[in-house]
Amino acid sequence: MSCPVQHGSGGTVTLDPYVKDLRAEREILYAAGPITRVELPGGVTAWAATRHEVARATLTDPRLVKDVAYWDDLQQGRIPEAWPLMSTIPPAPTNLLGADGAEHKRLRLLTAKAFSARTVERLRPRIHELTNDLLDALEPRAHEPLDLKGEFAFKLPMSVIGELYGVDSAEHGHLRDMYVKFFSSVTSPEEFMETYATMERYYEDLIAEKLANPGDDLTTELLNAGENGDALTHLEVRGTLQVVVAAGHETTVNLLCNAVRALLAHPEQFDLVKQGKVGWDTVVEETLRFDPPTSNMVFRFATEDIEIGGETIRKGEALMTSYGAISRDRDEHGEDPHPDTFDLTRQKGRHISFGYGPHVCPGSHLARIEGQIALPLLFERFPDLKLAVPDGELENHPSIVVNSLKELPVLLRP
Ligand code: HEM
Repeated sequence: MSCPVQHGSGGTVTLDPYVKDLRAEREILYAAGPITRVELPGGVTAWAATRHEVARATLTDPRLVKDVAYWDDLQQGRIPEAWPLMSTIPPAPTNLLGADGAEHKRLRLLTAKAFSARTVERLRPRIHELTNDLLDALEPRAHEPLDLKGEFAFKLPMSVIGELYGVDSAEHGHLRDMYVKFFSSVTSPEEFMETYATMERYYEDLIAEKLANPGDDLTTELLNAGENGDALTHLEVRGTLQVVVAAGHETTVNLLCNAVRALLAHPEQFDLVKQGKVGWDTVVEETLRFDPPTSNMVFRFATEDIEIGGETIRKGEALMTSYGAISRDRDEHGEDPHPDTFDLTRQKGRHISFGYGPHVCPGSHLARIEGQIALPLLFERFPDLKLAVPDGELENHPSIVVNSLKELPVLLRP
């Protein structure tokens, strides 16, 4: 097998930005573990945690922080200008994802109710309706190949986020279009700034609207959140709304696509679901383990030298969490069934694809509900759904961070 991932000098693993062979990359990273040096595009180097034990330890170690002020390579000008991964690193602690320590704890406490299972459970019936609406819209094209990612998996989580925000369903399309532009890799710097300004205005208007007309939604919950005289500033409400999309949209898109792909590629496993021997919750969990929506989460920075897994992360160095490799950990998931197989009957081990420790995903309940509702509705409506190209021809979006297919071409009614 030709392998785009290589061991460089001194045991450094070079990651392939084009993600030609993700499966091989996971195995190489795992084999290099439990913690290894990696080379990223642009010659930037970092550590990668590749096994459960080291991931759990590093994700709960207060000496590893999100604040880029601690990243020597950045502070000393060694990161290339316009380095593509820079956009995935939160610039300032105005939201959960980028904050540390006491500030992060404060934001988590203030946002806990807004993300609670109770708030999210309210959305269940709407997720059903939104899924069925999207499936209805696909009916006329059921006999021709279409991209299930673009037409379904991308649209549903954005509509659900729209519901969560408390925006009218007529506006879901606008929200979607804004983010398509925002995340596009072919947007010019001028277009990007324009989209950014549009988004700022959008969130300001949404906040003003919810202040005037409070609703049963996340935006209102965030505006009302407060304890002991402390409350979220409007900037922090905006930051939280933004991070919901940044952390919660593409990840959920990937969960849906990866589950469809895994079921179609493993008909004997899919039969267990069809026969009612395993539930859709198991499909969601095994997909999260087998094909985690985030391949590598960047970055945490060492505030002092840290000895772990037989290595020393030096003060000022960067560490990423390699969920793809972690999902192959034999110590956690055993050898039989092999972690590289999609097996809905597997008993051993628990994935940590939603993270671990203080930053653990507050949207996990919502993501799980979406998968558990959308996947059965999709396959009940289109029981003969199949890929329109061989699985081996599916291509990954070129990203070290997200585990995202470029497209998922299917035939709904072959
Ligand atoms: C399958 C879908 C999802 C996956 C795999 C996922 C994964 C993750 C992971 C790994 C983290 C931890 C990041 C870190 O350690 O730095 C995280 C954080 C976060 N996620 Fe999710 N997520 C998903 C869906 C969602 C959804 C639907 C929402 C919103 C409704 C959401 C909101 C967030 C937020 C706000 C954070 C930041 C929490 C913090 O830093 O304290 N996520 N997610």
